Amino acid sequence: MIVVTDSAILRRVMYTHLQLRDAERQPVNVATLRQMKARGEKIASLTCYDASFAVLLDEGGVDVALVGDSLGMVIQGHDTTVPVTMEDIVYHSRLVSRGLYRPFLIADMPFMSYASKEQALANAVRLMQEGGARMVKLEGGAGQVEIVEFLAGHDIAVCAHLGLKPQSVHKIGGFKVQGRDEKAARQMIADARALQDAGADVVLLECIPAELGAEITAALEVPVIGIGAGPGVDGQILVVYDILDITTGRKPRFTRNFMEGSSGPLEGIKRYVTAVKDRSYPAPEHCF
Ligand code: KIV
Repeated sequence: MIVVTDSAILRRVMYTHLQLRDAERQPVNVATLRQMKARGEKIASLTCYDASFAVLLDEGGVDVALVGDSLGMVIQGHDTTVPVTMEDIVYHSRLVSRGLYRPFLIADMPFMSYASKEQALANAVRLMQEGGARMVKLEGGAGQVEIVEFLAGHDIAVCAHLGLKPQSVHKIGGFKVQGRDEKAARQMIADARALQDAGADVVLLECIPAELGAEITAALEVPVIGIGAGPGVDGQILVVYDILDITTGRKPRFTRNFMEGSSGPLEGIKRYVTAVKDRSYPAPEHCF
């Protein structure tokens, strides 16, 4: 039996997927995420921006790593994600992909990098070929259905981001909880269904009432990952700097400091993964 656990070894063997059949730690893929939803195992996800953190996420048992455009705020010091470019995400994805073995790598499509079908395809290909991403994430509701369909039609795995869409911050007038009124909630459920039907493999919900998060999750076959979307979703994602208490000042209500009582960042990440899996995070105080 071949037991391969080291990514450096894997790079030297042929037909990696065949060698991995007997591996103890199988890399996560879209099928794994669907199986986790089906058996009710929560998906533990974190953002990641470089190789050192990628190794920690992997060691800590994280299932999904996202190179989010939140890097514009936590790495680059901007006050929104709008200034982030394709070059930035390609660069950080490349760094992260070198440190990952088991977690599934998603890369964000930055502001205005998917304004047309052709542009979206060309940029998604860059994130996969140059950045090593397995899936691309884009923000959008009904307006992005055609783009998602086009990418899915080219066999690109897509995560559709609904709820608070930080790239629209100047249009919506701030970082606010979304879907609070009945009309907006119904629209979000319809959008989530339309994006799934268009070929989205994962839906991400940001900053919405917990009841709406649970309702959308129950309505969809694909896994739903939430950030500030309550406990009723299939998985959670947080910004890694927030859970490791690196972010200074006021932090979003939905986040939690996992460094409290931890001996170091690896233990903090392990405690986050455990809390997501045993459902002790998010607690009522993290929900809207
Ligand atoms: O950019 C990002 O990090 C994200 C998460 C907040 C989900 O989209």
